[in-house]
Amino acid sequence: MTDVSSKSPGDDPKVLTNRQGHPVYDNQNQRTVGARGPATLENYQFLEKISHFDRERIPERVVHARGVTAYGYFEAYGAWGDEPIGRHTRAALFQERGRRTELAVRFSTVIGGRDSAETARDPRGFAVKFYTEDGNWDLVGNNLGVFFIRDAIKFPDVIHALKPDPVTFEQQPRRIFDFMSQTPESMHMLVNLFSPRGIPADYRHMQGFGVNTYKWVNDEGRTVLVKYHWMPKQGVRSMTEEDAANVQAQSLGHATKDLYEAVARGEYPEWELLVQMMDDNDHPELDFDPLDDTKTWPEQDFPPRPVGRMVLDRMPENYFADNEQISFGTGVLVDGLDFSDDKMLVGRTFSYSDTQRYRVGPNYLQLPVNQPKHAPVHTNQRDGQMTYHIDGGGANPLVNYEPSITGGLQEAVYPAHEEQGPEIRGRLTRARIPRANDYQQAGQRYLLMEQWERDDLVKNLVGQLSRCDRPVQERMVWHFLLVENELGLRVGEGIGVSPQDVTGLEPLAGQDLTDEDRKRLSRLG
Ligand code: HEM
Repeated sequence: MTDVSSKSPGDDPKVLTNRQGHPVYDNQNQRTVGARGPATLENYQFLEKISHFDRERIPERVVHARGVTAYGYFEAYGAWGDEPIGRHTRAALFQERGRRTELAVRFSTVIGGRDSAETARDPRGFAVKFYTEDGNWDLVGNNLGVFFIRDAIKFPDVIHALKPDPVTFEQQPRRIFDFMSQTPESMHMLVNLFSPRGIPADYRHMQGFGVNTYKWVNDEGRTVLVKYHWMPKQGVRSMTEEDAANVQAQSLGHATKDLYEAVARGEYPEWELLVQMMDDNDHPELDFDPLDDTKTWPEQDFPPRPVGRMVLDRMPENYFADNEQISFGTGVLVDGLDFSDDKMLVGRTFSYSDTQRYRVGPNYLQLPVNQPKHAPVHTNQRDGQMTYHIDGGGANPLVNYEPSITGGLQEAVYPAHEEQGPEIRGRLTRARIPRANDYQQAGQRYLLMEQWERDDLVKNLVGQLSRCDRPVQERMVWHFLLVENELGLRVGEGIGVSPQDVTGLEPLAGQDLTDEDRKRLSRLG
């Protein structure tokens, strides 16, 4: 019998073909009429090659464009001593000690473009996709634990201020602090960002935080509020501006390189996942709102409890498929995990899949890196750009609607429990949350710093603010005096703004000051 398959030169895996499976006999010369004559338009091989190249780029992420993906696993601890974690969440991946779940992580910077320097003073993204047996769970966080704003409606503004000037393409302190000076809730984040923690040494030596408040749900439908923390077993390391400048002179991608090299050496980086819990209510006894992502929860009252560890042991080979197309979202949860009413979280949950439908395409969830690896997918969704396959399931694949009595997909039956959640009543309104308390935790953070960290923070802020307009400088010194007297005095001294210069400033419109804030203001007078 003739072996038909061996007839084509393209069957040899070493032979170049086009995407139609045609062997390429000449990859150096277009088809022309004579060696010096005009090109012909029917030259399929040339047209396919060039037009595919023309489409090589997809839009980079609007934020977090520069990043690196790695793969590994999560291993659950299952219990705290005699207390099973199942008492607080029924999420399957946390239940048994030693249970492993495959995962992908993407570390990133926020503001720069895809090829920007990894030495930037910038929050770092810390996004984890768990491929669980109940479908995917994404935990999309950062390395600083808090954020600049607490309401998603302000996100485009904070990012525009932080992004390079749209004309000069330089990041400008004038724009950043113009915005921040009118946004008192940003003080806690700024005190972190301009401290040495604002430039992590690399991705292996940084913490991660879910930042927003989520919920856990147990078998009885009881909910608790939770915050997630990732602690690196490698320790935490940061860089000063001088360190960063030296590294940047050699490499724009030192952190990506570091991760690839460590994994290649078999030094698999590891993080422990810890969870803080609070009863699911508004906690009037606290001086902050548990749904406010500009706040951390005091560890002495809400101790972080370890629930498992993550190990990264494989780097991707296909940067585009694994890193550019991977798509995380805060709406991607599994049974036993839930949202809170955190006003950032709801906004984020809309934004991620919205941007991914545009950035990657409407069928981004069919891509191998995004589709669940261990849970079946059966939907009636069909078609759209770049559909790769029809989701299976149902006795009759022609029935792409529900309900049907002719063999289509059927709704799942709730296990023992129905939807959980509090009963909510209230007037429709636009209002800032009570208990804004914008300065206290920023001040506590400053006081916890070692002397060299305080010095570095002051130096970095002075460097930035000295390039800002006078009214912005004065307002920032006013805020820092409210954060912590010493911080305000030192920054003010560095930029030539004295407390007397700012005593006449009124609180910002609608600002919600605490009694402590008012006491500090009166001291300024
Ligand atoms: C990426 C929106 C707040 C962490 C993104 C992207 C958008 C976005 C549009 C690009 C996603 C993509 O193209 O795939 C928002 C909005 C926010 C917000 C609207 C506030 C309302 C936050 C906060 C954090 C965070 C508070 C940290 C806790 C991340 C991370 C990524 C990201 C880590 C990169 C994910 C990846 O590596 O692909 N965000 N974000 N974002 N965001 Fe946010």
